[in-house]
Amino acid sequence: MTDERKILERVLDEATGFLDSLPGRRVAPRTDVDGVAAALRRPLPEEGAEPLEVVEELIAGAEPGILAIPSGRFFGWVMGGVLPATLAADWLTSTWDQNAGLLATSPAAAGAEWVASEWLLDLLGLPATSAVGFVTGAMMANFTCLAAARHEVFRRVGWNVERDGLHGGPEVTVIVGEERHETVDVALRFLGLGEAQSIIVPADDQGRIRLDALGDTLAQVGDNPLIVCLQAGNVHSGAFDPIQDAVDLAHRHGAWVHVDGAFGLWAAASAQYQQLVAGREQVDSWATDAHKTLNVPYDSGIAIVANAEAMYAAMGAHAAYLIQDERPDPFSTVPEFSRRARGFTVWAALRSLGRRGVAEMVERFCAHARRFAAGLSELDGVRVVNDVVFTQVCVSFGPDEVTREVVARLLKDGTAWMTPSTWHGRAVLRISVSNWRTTDDDVDRSLAAVRRILAEVRAG
Ligand SMILES: Cc1ncc(COP(=O)(O)O)c(C=O)c1O
Repeated sequence: MTDERKILERVLDEATGFLDSLPGRRVAPRTDVDGVAAALRRPLPEEGAEPLEVVEELIAGAEPGILAIPSGRFFGWVMGGVLPATLAADWLTSTWDQNAGLLATSPAAAGAEWVASEWLLDLLGLPATSAVGFVTGAMMANFTCLAAARHEVFRRVGWNVERDGLHGGPEVTVIVGEERHETVDVALRFLGLGEAQSIIVPADDQGRIRLDALGDTLAQVGDNPLIVCLQAGNVHSGAFDPIQDAVDLAHRHGAWVHVDGAFGLWAAASAQYQQLVAGREQVDSWATDAHKTLNVPYDSGIAIVANAEAMYAAMGAHAAYLIQDERPDPFSTVPEFSRRARGFTVWAALRSLGRRGVAEMVERFCAHARRFAAGLSELDGVRVVNDVVFTQVCVSFGPDEVTREVVARLLKDGTAWMTPSTWHGRAVLRISVSNWRTTDDDVDRSLAAVRRILAEVRAG
């Protein structure tokens, strides 16, 4: 056996042991960041160590600090799980170590991205000629799409923002919903559009942009280049902006319409839920994640732009020493030059699930969310505060102090992982379902943990 085989066999043992432990394992880590750092810290070694020793030391130091995000009882933030085929594809991605920037550096990576893109556009019901970029996450997908938007709205008024920058150029108006995700603001900040410069349109009680208010705003903004940002999947309620009507309205005013659908765009894959994203095919750009609803390992975001030329103009690079193709190289659709070959895992997810498997997975997430809502609503003094239309459930246990205490104790208990938030001024427990591993039994065990902890808090 070569040393490399020994190391990989050790890692295979560790990985399968970890996956096998998930059904019985507490979700909470056994130690904190200080514990992990203390275990790994030593003066920078003068001499190297044997790779197997390195792996043993890493496992011993880091494993106790693992938050079991792949567990079926993990419902924090919006994290997604890891499908077996995508985990295997991810190992191969590192083994093959392809630089996915150019067609010439990796026909394998680019070919997989081409096919994954075709499948994604088909599955999500988006224009087949869109350009697709494989980025790190939805924040960078928002950035990439909005860079294409910035290019195009400036181009239409004769300004080359890539060449001449923002100084001295026309003003751009950006309209966002009150409950947009924070990463839309960050993307606008990166683009020099200023996160505080956006016009904020009020949202309704579920966090959806209000169409009447959007109409009023559009009527007042004048002729500046215009970008409107919508959302498919509110991080608290799971609600979707009324995309069809909002796009119609915004397009009548000449706007570029962008949708942040980090986890919600996947509703399009299910006949049962796709009405939530009706009108999506008319949108100009979409940001989503494969590492959330599609259950691809981190990191994997997807930027999709209908006007491919706008995306190529905003991204990409040229250098004499590269071998560039007449066709767009993969780096023409992302804000990176060199990068990981993210198409392998996305291809593997879609190949292993098929159209029907993605739809069933999305529908199972929604069914689990409803099971949580039903189980919690039965409890005295407990209120599900959102309409459960997708995968998100927000719960209040009465007074805010009680809600906060229940969440804090839940996190310490570690049977299930659900995270705290404040929504519409009230403390809530957020439950987000996005892992293929979650079963009805996981939901029931998690509900039992919430019931037990609530009783303890109420008993003082
Ligand atoms: C609606 C929405 N947009 C953007 C993001 C950011 O995604 P990422 O963490 O992949 O950058 C999230 C993350 O939860 C989200 O829910």
